[in-house]
Amino acid sequence: MATVLVIGGTGQVGSATVRALLKEHSSVKVRVGTRNASDGKKKLGKLADSVQVVQVSADDEKTWPAAFHGVSAVMIVRPGDGGGNSVVRLAGAAAATPSVQAVLLSTGFATADPSTPLMRSMLQLEQDAFRAVERHGKAFTLLRPHFFMENFLAPGFIGEKSFELPLQPDVNFSHIAVADIASVAAAVLAAPAVHNRRTYTLTGPDLKVKELGTVLSKVTGRKISVESLSDAEQRARWAKVGMPAPAIDAFASIYGQVASGALAYHTNAVRDVLGRDATSFQQWAQDHAHAFSVKK
Ligand SMILES: NC(=O)c1ccc[n+]([C@@H]2O[C@H](COP(=O)([O-])OP(=O)(O)OC[C@H]3O[C@@H](n4cnc5c(N)ncnc54)[C@H](OP(=O)(O)O)[C@@H]3O)[C@@H](O)[C@H]2O)c1
Repeated sequence: MATVLVIGGTGQVGSATVRALLKEHSSVKVRVGTRNASDGKKKLGKLADSVQVVQVSADDEKTWPAAFHGVSAVMIVRPGDGGGNSVVRLAGAAAATPSVQAVLLSTGFATADPSTPLMRSMLQLEQDAFRAVERHGKAFTLLRPHFFMENFLAPGFIGEKSFELPLQPDVNFSHIAVADIASVAAAVLAAPAVHNRRTYTLTGPDLKVKELGTVLSKVTGRKISVESLSDAEQRARWAKVGMPAPAIDAFASIYGQVASGALAYHTNAVRDVLGRDATSFQQWAQDHAHAFSVKK
């Protein structure tokens, strides 16, 4: 039985991938990489009973050999705080392991538009990771997910009558449900040779910001409209909840790209890999309607 390792498997994308592997690819054994095994088990909850949990940190090479040993494919979920060179070295070390046949990298971002420093660094990371894996003759697959629908679940994001975004109502962009990212990742890990050298830009259908409000109104039964914040207003809100300045700059840069229309398209990648359409925003919102109720 093949064993796959999910580094970042305690996080949002990684744990959803673990669930998808267990549900949709039961012939595969799952190993979860976490920086601290006992904390990792706590984060996984019941899932921990169905997987092997190992300690691995992108920043600590000593943890790598044992984590990779006997594994056939490795998924690296790029940590939210960057990763940079350590992610590239981690990918290379995984590929250098005899048992490992494939590395799957999920960057967490979607655009290949190199007009901002953040996106240039992301493209560099992708290329360097690809070369680090290819050097060992192993398969490499890249996932570039668009805006996560789960971002709408952040506390206070959707209020009683409005939701606030640093985007104008007519801005068009596409989104992806984390469960769809996870199902694609699981399918790649279960049959990596089929997906060698493929880049999957993962989106559901694109919608205008105001159309998101229409869907949310329908699902909640309340009239929910968009409050478009200026860049300065949004930055002030992030600062108020304690977000560090570099993170504020990174998020502002991402929203700037969305505002410029960089995510105003959709792809068929989910259909190509899974043979079904990506979850629509309407479907996702219905499935999460309980999260949008307002406490009186
Ligand atoms: N496009 C979007 O709208 C969007 C939305 C949210 C996130 N993202 C991006 O998508 C990616 C995944 O997001 P997520 O929400 O799944 O993140 P998350 O829930 O914060 O999970 C991050 C994972 O990375 C692991 N990790 C952190 N630092 C590590 C290190 N040095 N070495 C090894 N593992 C490390 C953590 O594991 P342990 O703590 O157990 O070690 C955790 O499992 C990130 O790059 C994030 O920036 C994109």
